[in-house]
Amino acid sequence: MRATTRLAQVCLLLAGCLLVWILPHLSSWEPGRQPDLPVIYVITPTHSRPTQKADLTRLANTLRQVPKLHWILVEDAKVLSPIVAGLLSRCGLAYTHLNVSKPDFCQRSCVARGSEQRNLGLDWLRRNRGPLDSGVVYFADDDNTYDLELFEEMRYTKLVSVWPVGLIAARWYERPLVGNGRVVGWYTGFPGRTFGIDMAGNARFVLKGAKAGMQENDFLSKLTRMEDLEPKANNCTRVLVWHTRTEPAALYKHRKENISIEV
Ligand code: UGA
Ligand code: MN
Repeated sequence: MRATTRLAQVCLLLAGCLLVWILPHLSSWEPGRQPDLPVIYVITPTHSRPTQKADLTRLANTLRQVPKLHWILVEDAKVLSPIVAGLLSRCGLAYTHLNVSKPDFCQRSCVARGSEQRNLGLDWLRRNRGPLDSGVVYFADDDNTYDLELFEEMRYTKLVSVWPVGLIAARWYERPLVGNGRVVGWYTGFPGRTFGIDMAGNARFVLKGAKAGMQENDFLSKLTRMEDLEPKANNCTRVLVWHTRTEPAALYKHRKENISIEV
């Protein structure tokens, strides 16, 4: 009897110690919380078209699985659309919803798609984050396909990091060529640029007034030198992002009339 009482006392004491240890940790505990990780700020330009909601749904499903990620979704539109707002409110991510319309001169054929929207995303970051906030910026188009590993590759970028992009420029992939751990050239279907890389293939940047196909090159030229680029994805030998493209609106033959449900 006395042995049982003693055992009960020891158990109570142990349980008490455990509680004392757990309680201070409880207030800071949240599922998925990893306080020391730099935040990945994903800026995505998006525009209205038949596949927009499907593309954004797929992208949200990817981003939701990445810890410490903030999605800055910028609509190419005069006002925020309820479809995108609804999708964001249900997506379970930290997000910022913005809009800016492409300039009038490119309403019909836009010279550099997504440029104004990326700049607005950067403006938001300048206004809302300071030098003490650690993080990396990635411009993720809404129709590309992203391997989750890509985000951990880019998370500790110092200035600009680079990696291959699949299904681009009429090739299975483009990639930075790496020698002794440094970028020494480009395998690309669009040569003649100092930085032969797509927007999907690097973390951090953008430029006002850039021409289609030259945004990446022009911005990187102002920001860094080829030899200072940080090659990721096993010295740029792995494709972790694909430049997939869903049907352009002009090819979309589905009838739009009489839509009475949420699409
Ligand atoms: C390629 C590059 O991968 C893009 O990063 C680059 O912005 C673009 O070329 C360019 O320089 O024009 P591509 O697949 O040809 O991409 O272009 P889209 O996917 O049609 O557009 C890129 C992003 O801008 C998408 O997120 C898209 O939703 C958005 N966008 C497109 C707009 O915000 N407004 C538009 O009128 C068209
Ligand atoms: Mn695209």
